[in-house]
Amino acid sequence: MARPCLLPFLVAAAAVLITWAPGGALGKSKFAKKSDDVVNGPLLTDKIKAKKTLIVGPDEEFKTVQSAIDAVPAGNTEWIIVHLRSGLHRGKVIIPENKPFIFVRGNGKGRTSISHESASSDNAESAAFTVSADNVVVFGVSFRNSARVGLVNDPEIRSVAAMVEGDKVAFYHCAFYSPHHTLFDSAGRHYYESCYIQGNIDFIFGNGQSMFQCPEIFVKPDRRTEIRGSITAQVREEEDTTGFVFLKGKVYGVGEVYLGRVTAPDSRVIFSDTYLSRTVNAAGWTTIGYTGSTDKVMLAEFNCTGPGADVTNRVPWSRRFSQNDAAKYLTIDFINGKEWLPAYYY
Ligand SMILES: *[C@@H]1O[C@H](CO)[C@@H](O)[C@H](O)[C@H]1NC(C)=O
Repeated sequence: MARPCLLPFLVAAAAVLITWAPGGALGKSKFAKKSDDVVNGPLLTDKIKAKKTLIVGPDEEFKTVQSAIDAVPAGNTEWIIVHLRSGLHRGKVIIPENKPFIFVRGNGKGRTSISHESASSDNAESAAFTVSADNVVVFGVSFRNSARVGLVNDPEIRSVAAMVEGDKVAFYHCAFYSPHHTLFDSAGRHYYESCYIQGNIDFIFGNGQSMFQCPEIFVKPDRRTEIRGSITAQVREEEDTTGFVFLKGKVYGVGEVYLGRVTAPDSRVIFSDTYLSRTVNAAGWTTIGYTGSTDKVMLAEFNCTGPGADVTNRVPWSRRFSQNDAAKYLTIDFINGKEWLPAYYY
């Protein structure tokens, strides 16, 4: 199956290679291969140029992910790779604020996973993986909070798979699993490329300034509560730079959800060029649990497709963007990505 996302800049780079290649045919075959993939571990490794690699695995110097993170010096200033061997890495992992410039590299989201079982009434405390440091890149890891909260009839029990509160944090080809409150995108500028995110209620939430390129969002039913779940709950309190932008992805699953729930006066979420399956309900957006004004909320859709993209019965305060309105959300500049991302789609 063709990948939904091809990297225009890689294609451009490959085109340059063709011009330079002595044999045209050889160049063309290289071009075809390059354009098949988006961003992978070797590409990121090449861009990041770390001097040191700490390896985590049962037969390696570091047996747990946390022990490798702990070995990174406080106040770190040079990129360090923490490489996770394929397999299941159990235990809570925290990258503390004083350990920036870590590249957590797995072997792919289907091969390397970090799993922890933890439920709490506090989102942060429940998180299986926490990034509090700035400048962190993650490639090819699945994050799972396997707490069996589905058995407890209490939606207040949190089981966050990942909490991200550092600035300039990027995830490539990762996956996030939890019944609900899966990804706590708390604060800072973040980039998620080709990531899979699963949940039911408010499962991408927080006040981050984040771009989700080619996300795969899977909705799982949750019978513990009568309200329909919501994919996002973006908590923008004032007119600052935060917000969630979803580009060129797909939303599908079982059950019914809203694209977003208003949680603050300036909540901002945009779905653009996204396939919305029937799992997205007709109203699209909701104010459940919120009593403030919807005058300034910016919950919008632009150029989406699929049976869930019919906007005829959307709540009146949601927005349908024109090309002009959408423009500022459609490039990596929304998170100033050109200044800090090792690789990106646009
Ligand atoms: C709308 O989305 C399609 C893909 O679904 C894309 O090819 C097209 O360029 C988009 N149109 C605009 C105006 O962005």
